[in-house]
Amino acid sequence: MATYDLAVIGGDGVGPEVTGQALKALRAAADRFGFAVTTTDYDLGGERYLRTGEVLPDSVVDELRRHDAILLGAVGTPDVPPGVLERGLLLKLRFTFDQYVNWRPVKLYEGVPTPIAGLTPERCDLVVVRENTEGLYAGAGGSLYTGTPAEVATQESLNTRHGVERVVRFAFDQAQARRKQLTLCHKTNVLTFAGDLWQRTVDAVAADYPDVQTDYVHVDAMCLYLVQSPERFDVVVTDNLFGDIVTDLGAAVQGGLGLAASGNLNPAKTTPSMFEPVHGSAPDIAGKGWANPVAAVLSAAMCMAHLGEQKAADAVEAAAAHQLTTLGGMAGAAMGYSTEEIGDRIAADIAQGA
Ligand code: NAD
Ligand code: IPM
Ligand code: MN
Repeated sequence: MATYDLAVIGGDGVGPEVTGQALKALRAAADRFGFAVTTTDYDLGGERYLRTGEVLPDSVVDELRRHDAILLGAVGTPDVPPGVLERGLLLKLRFTFDQYVNWRPVKLYEGVPTPIAGLTPERCDLVVVRENTEGLYAGAGGSLYTGTPAEVATQESLNTRHGVERVVRFAFDQAQARRKQLTLCHKTNVLTFAGDLWQRTVDAVAADYPDVQTDYVHVDAMCLYLVQSPERFDVVVTDNLFGDIVTDLGAAVQGGLGLAASGNLNPAKTTPSMFEPVHGSAPDIAGKGWANPVAAVLSAAMCMAHLGEQKAADAVEAAAAHQLTTLGGMAGAAMGYSTEEIGDRIAADIAQGA
């Protein structure tokens, strides 16, 4: 029997609440499809930092490296200055494990209320392939004369041919397997150095994919089209920061951040990939039992697919979709269903093959 050894970082705020439900779904899928899952919890995040001053010790990185995959809830809390955990923990893992693809589907499930009037599931099924190791996230820059009137701060966007080409190739592969439509989203009319590198890379790689149609949208127009006509997109490849921003918008279009899943992928599988909801620690609802666990559950489904358990992944997604249709989308007091109840209903569906 195949056994998958997962590292679990619940993290901060609603992170542990939703991750608990993702694990229920995974265990139900393992039982049904005949594989085993072992998990190791890692105490990382705001609480540990405040208690010990540690963000991500090297010894923990070494341990994480030995797992088949990582499930993460969310990191970041108002008690810790911005960036300490986000950069020191989350981005450090993405970079160290060379998870250069951030795979973020924007999919409207049947019966989910969307703020876009008249939008139907047939018109909203796209994937954002976000570059995940470079751009403005790389951390290049600095500040001088901090706190004086002469203060200067720079933050540079790093774009390498190697980094851009590998994510663009991945996106073409995915487009080839889907509706054969690849859109580059950038801001080539202003970011002429980086934009030129991205556009030329897409043009060059396109020669290897003659049956994939390519087009281009500026990121500001992307925000318009994503809302007005998401059906024009199949696979969208974009830079790190643009991808971060447009996928929160995509989450809104698909019915809320509680539904948006993501995978930080190392396609070569030389190090573990990491699966997490697009949302953060949601301090405004943490501890209330209102967080929607579906994003975490769908991220766990991606994890199964990545590990080669496609049937389990499909069953977990189908169960989540079934509950979304049944319950109408969102968790929370207003809906009368808690994080835990939704998790239980999804796990029961998986067990019963519903
Ligand atoms: P957020 O995603 O935590 O919350 C934005 C809004 O969405 C809030 O109103 C929240 O209640 C709601 N929301 C989020 N998840 C939900 C869920 N599962 N169900 C229902 N509603 C949900 O973003 P924020 O408030 O900007 O950030 C809070 C903290 O989280 C910050 O420290 C930020 O850096 C961090 N963050 C972490 C991650 C991550 O770990 N991947 C992602 C985004 C933000
Ligand atoms: C996300 C988050 C992270 C990002 C932060 C917390 C570093 O917003 O996963 O979307 O910007 O990538
Ligand atoms: Mn984000």
